[in-house]
Amino acid sequence: MSGNLTYSMIKPEAVQKGFTGPILSHIQKAGFRITALKMLKISEEVAGKFYAIHKERPFFNDLIKYISSGPIVPMILEKENAVEEFRKLIGATNPKNATPGTIRNLYAESIEQNAIHGSDSDENAVIEADFFFPRSDRF
Ligand code: RTP
Ligand code: MG
Repeated sequence: MSGNLTYSMIKPEAVQKGFTGPILSHIQKAGFRITALKMLKISEEVAGKFYAIHKERPFFNDLIKYISSGPIVPMILEKENAVEEFRKLIGATNPKNATPGTIRNLYAESIEQNAIHGSDSDENAVIEADFFFPRSDRF
């Protein structure tokens, strides 16, 4: 059974370019409820923990440098079948392959600087949401 929660974050280059407002609006218009949201800058150490799943991949070092390079906007989103629906809304990892009208098609710069993250499974959505938002702070 699919869950109703996913974790997302707007990545540094998109925040820096002033795309936070348009991206949040895009997400809400698509029927997602934002149930947790903040803006913060994370250290390379914290970024390394968040992306530990990718530590063997060739782009790992660049990824943690990039994600800790400026403010990010983490959030928890709710909708039926949230993980799959949100992956559709953001589009392919490489914006060159992202379907027109998706968030990465509209706002991403490159395969790495691709504007936004979306969890890839219900299990990871819960892990990632808990990583940024303690349950005691949530409603
Ligand atoms: P995300 O986790 O951010 O939602 O992205 P994704 O599932 O579409 O892609 P994933 O394979 O999980 O990769 C995580 C992030 O690493 C950067 N990346 N760089 N240089 C590269 O070849 C490369 N490949 C991936 C991207 O920022 C990607 O979103
Ligand atoms: Mg991923």
